[in-house]
Amino acid sequence: CVFWLLFPREGFTEKQKQQRMPPTALVVGQSVMKAFQHLSTQDLHTRRVEEAYRVVVECITAVDPAMRLYMFGSTAVYGVHEKGSDVDFVALSKTDVEDGKGEDAGTQVAKGLQAEFLGKLARVVRQKHLSWNVEEVRRTRVPVIRVKGGSSVDFDITVNRRNGVRNSALLRAYFEQDPPCRWLSMGVKRWSKRAGLNASVVGGSITSYGFNLMVVYYLLQRGALRFIEPHAIDVANVAPVPPYLPLEPPRNDGAELGEQVLDFLAFYMHEFDAARHVVSLSRPGITTKEQLNWTKNAEDLARMNGEKINYQWCIEDPYELNLNVGRNVTPLKRDFLRKHLEKARETALLTTT
Ligand code: GTP
Ligand code: MG
Ligand code: MG
Repeated sequence: CVFWLLFPREGFTEKQKQQRMPPTALVVGQSVMKAFQHLSTQDLHTRRVEEAYRVVVECITAVDPAMRLYMFGSTAVYGVHEKGSDVDFVALSKTDVEDGKGEDAGTQVAKGLQAEFLGKLARVVRQKHLSWNVEEVRRTRVPVIRVKGGSSVDFDITVNRRNGVRNSALLRAYFEQDPPCRWLSMGVKRWSKRAGLNASVVGGSITSYGFNLMVVYYLLQRGALRFIEPHAIDVANVAPVPPYLPLEPPRNDGAELGEQVLDFLAFYMHEFDAARHVVSLSRPGITTKEQLNWTKNAEDLARMNGEKINYQWCIEDPYELNLNVGRNVTPLKRDFLRKHLEKARETALLTTT
C-alpha cells in the first residue's frame, strides 16, 4: 500500500542525539511507525490463521463433536494477525455460548474437568501432528495446552472459559471506536516485551492483556474513548473467527501517535496514583484500592497457587472476580516499570536502539 512508502527514513537528528534533548512528539511517532515498517510487506489478514483454526477444529471434533471453537487474544483484539504472535483458542460448549454473559466457574472441580478434556485433546493433536510439540500446562490458574506447530503458528487452547473471548471482544470494541489507537497498543506491547516488562519474557510481570487494559484505561481517562459496560459483552454475539479490521497508517504522519505515546508515559509516571488507584474498565471514572479491598492487609493474606499476590500496581480484570492482572508486580518490579516508563520517553518506546 502506497501510504507506507511515505514512512520516514530518519528518526532522531544528529543534533538531538548529541544534545540528548527529549524528542518531539513527531519524532517519537515516526520512530514508532518505523519500528512497524515490516508490517507493510506482511499480509495482516486474519484469514492467515484460519488454517490453524481448521486444524484445531478437526482435533476438537475428534474429542467432542458438539464443542465450538473461538479465537481470542491479539488476533481478535486488533482484527489483524501479526506474524510471530501466538493464537489463543478456546473450546466452548453450546450452553457456554448460549449463556454468553455467564460467569466462568473457578472451582477445582471445573479445573479438573477442563484438564481432562485438554488431556484428551493433547493426545489427538499428538496423533494427528507427530512433529508438533504439545505441552499440557496444569499449574496455571487456567488449564491450557500450548502447541508449537513448527513452521505454522503456535497456539494456546483452553476450554469452557468465556472470559478470554469476552475480554478480547471488550478491548476490540474499544479499539473499534478509534482504530488508530491500536498503534499505541502495539507500540506499548512491543516496548513491554523488549524492556523485559512483559510476562511473556523472563523476569516480566504484566501480560500483553494487562498492558492493553492500561492503554484503554488511559484513553478513557483522557476522554478519547467512550465507556463500555463490560457486562454488555455477550459471547453469543461474538464471531468465532474475528473479522479483519484493516490497519491504516497513523494519522498526521505519526504526530498524533507520538503525542499519545508521550502522554501515555506521562500519565503512568505522574498522574496515575498507583498507591491508591486501580486501572479498571469495570466502571467509569476512578476506582480505588480501598473500594476493592486490595489493601496491605489483603496482600499479606492472599496467595494463589502458593504464589504471592501483590497490590502494588493494580489492574482490575473486568470479568474475573477479585483478580489483579498486575498481581505479579512486586515493589521491585514496580520500580523497574517506573524506570522504563521514564526511559521510554527518550527512546520512543525503545524504537531508536
Ligand atoms: P500477544 O500474545 O503478546 O501478542 O498478546 P495478546 O493480546 O494475545 O495477549 P495475551 O496473550 O497476554 O492474552 C490473551 C488472553 O489471555 C487475554 O485475552 C486474556 O483472556 C488472557 N490473559 C492473559 N493474561 C492474563 C492475565 O494476567 N489475567 C487474566 N485473567 N487473563 C489473562
Ligand atoms: Mg496471545
Ligand atoms: Mg497466548
